[in-house]
Amino acid sequence: MEGRICALAVLCLVLSSVGALEVVIPQKEYEFARGDNITLPCNFKSKLAAPPLVIITWSAEAPTAGAKETLILSYYSNTKQTDIKSMYEGRVSLDVDTRTGRANLKLSAITLADNKVFECRVLIPTDDEGKPAATVRLVVLVAPSTPVCKLQGKAEYGQNINLTCLSAEGSPAPTYKWESTDVRSMPRAAPHPRTTDKGGILSMYNITKDTSGYFTCTSSNKIRSAKCNITLAVMPPSVSFGSTAIIAIVVSVIAVIALIVIVYCCCRHRKKKREEEEYAMGAPAEEFHDKDPPRNGDRRPAGREEDRRVDREPVEDRRRPDNDERQSDYDDRRSDYDDRRSDYDDRRSDYNDRRSDYDDRRSDYNDRRDRYSDRNERHDDERSTNGRRDRRDDDDRRDDDDRYDEPYDDRPPVPNNKPLRKDYDD
Ligand SMILES: *[C@@H]1O[C@H](CO)[C@@H](O)[C@H](O)[C@H]1NC(C)=O
Ligand SMILES: *[C@@H]1O[C@H](CO)[C@@H](O)[C@H](O)[C@H]1NC(C)=O
Ligand SMILES: *[C@@H]1O[C@H](CO)[C@@H](O)[C@H](O)[C@H]1NC(C)=O
Ligand SMILES: *[C@@H]1O[C@H](CO)[C@@H](O)[C@H](O)[C@H]1NC(C)=O
Repeated sequence: MEGRICALAVLCLVLSSVGALEVVIPQKEYEFARGDNITLPCNFKSKLAAPPLVIITWSAEAPTAGAKETLILSYYSNTKQTDIKSMYEGRVSLDVDTRTGRANLKLSAITLADNKVFECRVLIPTDDEGKPAATVRLVVLVAPSTPVCKLQGKAEYGQNINLTCLSAEGSPAPTYKWESTDVRSMPRAAPHPRTTDKGGILSMYNITKDTSGYFTCTSSNKIRSAKCNITLAVMPPSVSFGSTAIIAIVVSVIAVIALIVIVYCCCRHRKKKREEEEYAMGAPAEEFHDKDPPRNGDRRPAGREEDRRVDREPVEDRRRPDNDERQSDYDDRRSDYDDRRSDYDDRRSDYNDRRSDYDDRRSDYNDRRDRYSDRNERHDDERSTNGRRDRRDDDDRRDDDDRYDEPYDDRPPVPNNKPLRKDYDD
């Protein structure tokens, strides 16, 4: 009985060792961090010492049930050729040795998409018994990203606060651990008697000055860990509120004072400016009126001068601001108007015929005109010999023309005085 069992065992041993093909992957599952370059091991044994042809394939399928298996690569020992599917081109290779039965898959820079079941399969002609394939699960891990530490609530006596710690990434999900030291950097078991630490949230109720300190959170999973920290300074609420209120009051008082100063300065500036303008406009204007009768004044009868000045005043006002310096010259320049008037007279000779109609109307001016005869002597010399009487009529008629006969006066009311100035300078 014992001998037969022993013989069977020996036979089995012999059969298995001699027998069929066997493909083996040492572990059911491998964990690697995202971005790592990894090797998935695969070993095979054949009954043939030196098989003439070995075909090795690696394929992958998602761990979900019914997922489609996709081929990664095929290797043919006779030509030592590896066909890599385009999807994996550039990031996979086969570490192969058919004599020792090695068929490792190398993957570089793995991603979460490589979270799959991989299968290593070996085909050897005439050695099709046994276990021709093995599978392995690849778990791609993601290191926790540097967590963010935050304070929720007010760091004041008697308040309830949370210290939160969260990593944006991490696979598997990271776990969090808070540690703290007091204000003298001495480690302490618990920062506060009433504390809960759950899922990265450190909640502290009715905090006191002693809760102040330095807090560090460690976020970790299987592969790595990362830290963040926060300094907590718990303040008395009254002082905190009081100082805030005082600061607010001081700031608003300063703002109001600044506003008042600005407004005051603005008003003063504006007033000063206005005074300056008034001075600039007002003072010379009076001088102008006192010394300067309206420009065409000496052509007019003296008796009318007062009325005319009143009529002209708005016009003179408008001219005033930009004529301040020029005004002083008017007296001198006015002396030139006589000469110019003679030019007008020449031009006006065209109108003589028409003007004769007005002679009757103008007869009542004759007396007044005698007073001007002395002054007009100069012009009379220049005037043509036959129009003496009419021309003098013209001078007086200008007043009437200005008022009734505007179309006759084709010259602008203010003649261009540049040539006159030149005469004066000369
Ligand atoms: C992975 O391999 C690539 C070359 O294929 C190399 O540039 C990279 O540094 C490697 N990464 C790691 C984490 O070893
Ligand atoms: C602290 O966290 C708890 C639980 O998440 C929440 O109920 C509470 O409102 C938080 N407290 C503050 C001050 O944010
Ligand atoms: C908070 O703590 C103070 C002493 O630090 C205690 O007098 C008070 O009753 C506590 N308040 C609450 C709501 O627990
Ligand atoms: C606290 O965190 C900051 C970054 O938020 C880091 O620069 C600093 O080194 C940390 N301090 C300690 C003691 O770890």
